[in-house]
Amino acid sequence: MKTHKTPVTDRYIGRTVAITGAAQGLGLAMASRFAAEGASLALADVNDVLLSEAMNQIQVHGDATVSQNVVDVTDSSTVNGWISEVEQTQGAVDVLVNNAGIIRDNRIEKISDADWDDVVDVSLKGAFYCSRAVFPGMRKRRYGRIISFSSMSWRGNFGQSNYVAAKAGVVGLTRTLALEGARDGITANAIAPGLIETPMLASMNDAARNLLIKKVPMMHTGDPSDIAEAAAFLGSEGAAFITGVVLDVDGGISIGSSIR
Ligand SMILES: NC(=O)c1ccc[n+]([C@@H]2O[C@H](COP(=O)([O-])OP(=O)(O)OC[C@H]3O[C@@H](n4cnc5c(N)ncnc54)[C@H](O)[C@@H]3O)[C@@H](O)[C@H]2O)c1
Repeated sequence: MKTHKTPVTDRYIGRTVAITGAAQGLGLAMASRFAAEGASLALADVNDVLLSEAMNQIQVHGDATVSQNVVDVTDSSTVNGWISEVEQTQGAVDVLVNNAGIIRDNRIEKISDADWDDVVDVSLKGAFYCSRAVFPGMRKRRYGRIISFSSMSWRGNFGQSNYVAAKAGVVGLTRTLALEGARDGITANAIAPGLIETPMLASMNDAARNLLIKKVPMMHTGDPSDIAEAAAFLGSEGAAFITGVVLDVDGGISIGSSIR
């Protein structure tokens, strides 16, 4: 992971940020970034071993706290229990980051029922469960930031019908949460990453990966810190008038072809 060159602020002091899928990749990069800006963290992941390792890498500042919970975002009672525990022990959730996601790529004929359900459940149903759990507290306090993970794929991508459906669903969910939260100081936005160097990207086959990198106008993959930068902005107080947007963080790949 690249070390960050941007001067780090203290804009998250007194704020609690809950992140799903926080044990590695983008979730871990965002956790480190929010912590560096003073946030208390509530980290959740289905993988307890990786999550404990991640906890050792994160340093919170001042009076900030950090908690780790094994949470499967596809299980609503576990999600509800996690959020209510965080609210009781660490205070209201100011920022929710719906980051957990998985891929099970294949052509439509080869996608099993389980491959469909698992992918849609983690990205989309998980984002719904977590957002529903934090909404009452955010509405009561008239403050909240919800950041959900879509993907550059949400517009359509060969061999990813399950993932695309989930990530397009995240866009629809985000836009609707934005409407429902707008009068109560709650914003909801999505980040659509391009190709970012994480274990998920490493799990793609080399041929597909190399082909995709050639299509990026900037001609290289992104770093998790590029995503953390966007999340730290969208989750901040300063982003108060931005809601319902899908922020592409992708080196330009969503614009179109850059073949000269
Ligand atoms: N890396 C990329 O290039 C890229 C591109 C576009 C979108 N995204 C999206 O960004 C998000 C993060 O991706 P990443 O590359 O860091 O992935 P990753 O595979 O590196 O990490 C995902 C994390 O989510 C956790 N997770 C999986 N299922 C879960 C569940 N049911 N409950 C809780 N946690 C669960 C995993 O244990 C893992 O720690 C995902 O939503 C992904 O779809 C990533």
